[in-house]
Amino acid sequence: MYRLPPKRMLKKTAKALVDAAIAAVSLVLAFELRFAGNLPFPFALDLPLLVALVAAGQTGVTFLVGGHSRIWQYTSMHEALVLAIGTGASMVALCLLSALGVLHIPISVLLIDGALCLLGLAGVRVVRRMQVTFVKKRSGVTDLSRVRTLLVGAGDTCNSLLADLESRNHTNWEIVGLLDDSPAKQGAKLRGHSVLGPTTQLEWFIRRESVEHVVVAMPSADRPVLRNLINRAQSCGATVQAVPALEDLLRNGKPAVGRIPVTLEDLVDSAEVKKTLLSRVKRRPAEPVILVTGGAGYIGCHVVRRLLDRGYRVRVLDNFMYGSAGLDPLRNRPNLEVVEGDVSNIRDVTASVKDAEAVIALAAIVGDPACGISAEETLNLNYESTKVLIEACNFYGVLRFVFASSCSVYGASDDVVLDEESPLNPVSLYARTRILSEDVIFERCGDVRAVVLRLSTVFGLSPRMRFDLVVNAFTARAVVEGRIRVFGGGQWRPFVHCKDAAEAFVLAATTLPELVQGETFNVGHSDMNCTIAEVAHLVAEEVGRDVEIEFVDAVDDPRNYRVSCKKIAGTLGFQPQFDLHSGIREMIAALRGDARLRDYNDVPFSNVKVLRDRFDVVGAPNMPNTLGRHAVVR
Ligand SMILES: NC(=O)c1ccc[n+]([C@@H]2O[C@H](COP(=O)([O-])OP(=O)(O)OC[C@H]3O[C@@H](n4cnc5c(N)ncnc54)[C@H](O)[C@@H]3O)[C@@H](O)[C@H]2O)c1
Repeated sequence: MYRLPPKRMLKKTAKALVDAAIAAVSLVLAFELRFAGNLPFPFALDLPLLVALVAAGQTGVTFLVGGHSRIWQYTSMHEALVLAIGTGASMVALCLLSALGVLHIPISVLLIDGALCLLGLAGVRVVRRMQVTFVKKRSGVTDLSRVRTLLVGAGDTCNSLLADLESRNHTNWEIVGLLDDSPAKQGAKLRGHSVLGPTTQLEWFIRRESVEHVVVAMPSADRPVLRNLINRAQSCGATVQAVPALEDLLRNGKPAVGRIPVTLEDLVDSAEVKKTLLSRVKRRPAEPVILVTGGAGYIGCHVVRRLLDRGYRVRVLDNFMYGSAGLDPLRNRPNLEVVEGDVSNIRDVTASVKDAEAVIALAAIVGDPACGISAEETLNLNYESTKVLIEACNFYGVLRFVFASSCSVYGASDDVVLDEESPLNPVSLYARTRILSEDVIFERCGDVRAVVLRLSTVFGLSPRMRFDLVVNAFTARAVVEGRIRVFGGGQWRPFVHCKDAAEAFVLAATTLPELVQGETFNVGHSDMNCTIAEVAHLVAEEVGRDVEIEFVDAVDDPRNYRVSCKKIAGTLGFQPQFDLHSGIREMIAALRGDARLRDYNDVPFSNVKVLRDRFDVVGAPNMPNTLGRHAVVR
C-alpha cells in the first residue's frame, strides 16, 4: 500500500491542526457574540468539551470532502466550494445533534459559528496564498514557487517521474492529479495522486484545478496525439513539458532493457518537442492543416477561430455565398488560409484536401426551407459532394473526417427521448441528404477515421449571423417588434449554442482517434430539449418588457423530437457552456447595441432569402428546380 512521504504527512497534519484551531476559536467566538460575553452557566461548563468535539468533527468533515488533500491555498471556485460543502455538512450534522438533544448548542450559535468558521478557513488560505506570492516576488525566483502541475498518462513513465519527484529534497511541482484514458484507471491512485479523468477533459481540469503546468508522460503515444495534447494545454495558458519518445531516451544513453526509469531531467519543453520529435512525423513538408469546408458559415467561423486559438493551421474552403463576415475578423491570422471554391467542384476539393490531416465538413445547403428551393442543387451539394469529399480524403490519406449531420434525421417521433441508436424518421429533403451522407461516409471512408456529429438546433450569436433559426428569429422579433408569432408550439426540439457546437467539432477532430472512429454523436445537452412555445416564453421573459406571443394553429414544420446527448458527454467529456437563457441574453444585448442586426429581415441573415436571390427563384420554397448546372458557382 502506498504511504505518504513523511514531509507530506507532516504538512497534512499541520493543515488539519490549523483547521481544528479555526473551528475551535469560531465556536468560542460564536458563543461570546451570541451571549454578548455573558455565557450562561450550563454552556460555560460544557464549552471545553463542546469545542473539542466540534473542532474534531469539523476537521474530519473538511478532510473527508478533500479540503486537505490537494488544496490548501484558496485559489479557485472549486476550492471555495469544497470548503463551503465541508462547513455546510458539519453545520447540518451539528443542528441535527442539537435537535436530537445529543449536544446543547443553540441554533443561533451554530449559524454564527458556521459563518465564522467558513470565513476563517477561507481567510487562512488567502493569507497563505498571499504569503507565497509575496515570497516569490521578493526573491525574484519565479520557478521555485509551487506550480500546480497536472500529469497526463498514468503509466510506468508517470510512476518513474513521481518516484524521482519524491526522492528530491525540493521540487516546485504541486501535483494536482493525473489524467489517463484507461477506464480501469479512473479514480485509482498512483503514488498517492488520483487519476482525475480522461484526457478529453484536459481543458476542464486545467480550469477547475487552476493548473499552471502540464507534463505529458506518454512517450509511446502517436505524435499527432502528443501534439494535440500539447496544443490544448498551451491554449489554456499552461506551460508544457513532455517525456520524449522511448527511442530518444535510448539514444541518449538510457538502458535498453527492462523498464526505463525516467527522471525530471529527461523532460523537454513543448517548443522543443514540437521542433524535434513531432516534426519527424509530418506526412508532408509543411505543418499539417485542418480543412474546414463551410468555414465562413454560422458555425464554421467559430470552429475556425477555436482551431487557430489552439495553434492549428486551418484552411477554409467556402464559396462565400452568404458573404465573408464570419471570417473577416480572422483574416490577419497567419495560420489561416482561405480558399474561395466550391465543394461540388472536384478540383477545388482535391486541391484543398491533399495535404490536410483532418477535414471538418460543414459546407451544405442548411435547413429544410433552404433545401426546398431546389431539390437538385440540394442533392448535388448535400449528398453527391459528400461522396467526392470522403473519397478524396481516403485517397490522400487524411487521418480524420468529421461530418456535420443534424438531429433533424430523427424527424417526427413519438413522445420518447431519442439516442444515436433510435430509428430515423426524416421528414424533409435536408434530413434525407444528411442520412444518405452519413451512410456513404462510413461506407467509403476506408482508413480515414470518420465521425458524425448530429447537431441539435443551433442558436446564438455569430459573426456570420443567421436569423432564420428559431431561437434567433424569436429573439430578434421580440427585441425589434415586441411580438413573436408561434406556429403550433408543442413541437419539441433539442438546442445547442453555436460556440458549443463548434467546440464539439474541434473535440471530434483533435481527440484520441479511438474515441470517435466510426461513431455518431448527438451534440447538445439532454437538459436542453424544449418545446417551441417554451422557447417563445423564455425569449419574452429575457427581453423583459411586454412581448406579445401570438399562437397560430397551423404547423408549417412537422419535426418533433427530443434527444439524449449522454453519449458525447460520457465519451468526449463534452459539456455545453451556454444554455438558452445565456445565449438569448447575449443576442438581446447585441441586437440592442447594433443597428445592423436590428435589420434582421435583411437578405444576408437568412439562408432561404440568399438562395432565392442567388438561384433567382420567385415565390415560395419548394419550387421545382430552376437552376442551371453551375448556378451555385460564382
Ligand atoms: N445551424 C443549425 O441549426 C444546424 C443544425 C444541424 C446541423 N447543422 C449543420 O452544420 C453545418 C453548418 O451549418 P451553419 O448553420 O453554419 O450553416 P451556414 O449556412 O451558415 O454555413 C454553410 C457554409 O457553407 C458554405 N457553402 C455552402 N455551399 C457551398 C459550396 N457549394 N461550396 C463551398 N462552400 C459552401 C456557405 O458559404 C457557408 O459559409 C451544416 O452542414 C449543417 O447541415 C446546422
